[in-house]
Amino acid sequence: MTNGHINPANVPDIALKDGHSIPQVGLGVLRIDDEGVVPVVESALEAGYRHIDGAAGYNNEAGVGRALAASGYNKGAKRETLWVTTKLRDSQQGYDSALKAFDNSLKLLQLDYVDMYMIHWPTPFDWRSTDTWKAFVKLRDEGMARTLGVCNFMPADLKRLHEETGAWPAVNQIELHPTWQQREVVAFCKEHGIAVEAYSPMARGADLNAGDGTIEKIAAAHEVSPAQVILRWHIENGTIIIPKSVHADRQKENLNLFGFALTADEHAAIDALDGPTRAGHDPLTFTYA
Ligand SMILES: NC(=O)c1ccc[n+]([C@@H]2O[C@H](COP(=O)([O-])OP(=O)(O)OC[C@H]3O[C@@H](n4cnc5c(N)ncnc54)[C@H](OP(=O)(O)O)[C@@H]3O)[C@@H](O)[C@H]2O)c1
Repeated sequence: MTNGHINPANVPDIALKDGHSIPQVGLGVLRIDDEGVVPVVESALEAGYRHIDGAAGYNNEAGVGRALAASGYNKGAKRETLWVTTKLRDSQQGYDSALKAFDNSLKLLQLDYVDMYMIHWPTPFDWRSTDTWKAFVKLRDEGMARTLGVCNFMPADLKRLHEETGAWPAVNQIELHPTWQQREVVAFCKEHGIAVEAYSPMARGADLNAGDGTIEKIAAAHEVSPAQVILRWHIENGTIIIPKSVHADRQKENLNLFGFALTADEHAAIDALDGPTRAGHDPLTFTYA
């Protein structure tokens, strides 16, 4: 079973362990307000994006919903060509609260189902992911959330979820970019068939000039941009990516990754940029309300 995505921009699908498949490139919509997100989603759909990565915590699900409705992607055959992810707020983890929160997200998005529902943060100091997961399974059984995922889960969190529910999520969305590669987490996910999705794939822009010009030199050699070099590196690693841009020209650029390939040396030079430079928060201690 696949979601039957049409890939106008030649974006490959990544097959997930639950039988669904997700477009490898999506648009992230963090830090865009509810009004502002409408034209951003519309221009992305026009550019060929068929995957939107949102969250209740971004406070713009209603705007995403209005954009999908205005462009006809919220119903019927067009809806089936689109992948929509949303995430549960940490404050709404738990069985009943997750079901209620999901209902609200679906209404705001003006959708009948979402393609993926994710636990946003594991909050290991206030663990409720086991009860939350049981609610997620109910939503999946009812066809309301097709794929179940988590974000920011470290191997200890994944093991705990597995021990307490018997399940591995289909996807783990983690901070991942050249200067923060999280190789142990990636290896653990691969071992258990969990697809890795990179958030902040360009470190929010900080990696564009990483390695004292390494990225820029590779970009010049291929006549592409530094952003395209980093995103191409992720693609070649088999990672799902959700770069965010509010600009139509950058959205197009970030999708245009399939007309060139890194040489083995170039790929290795980016591998070698790994370092201790997290752009976001530490999942061991962070909660996102
Ligand atoms: N699950 C989680 O906990 C979590 C956490 C963080 C993020 N995320 C998800 O991941 C998505 C992406 O992460 P992110 O937004 O943190 O970082 P990112 O995608 O690595 O970087 C976004 C930044 O890079 C700029 N940019 C985008 N394309 C560019 C290009 N071609 N050239 C130059 N600059 C470019 C953007 O500016 P402009 O917009 O001005 O173009 C923005 O400032 C988020 O939107 C969200 O969906 C999830």
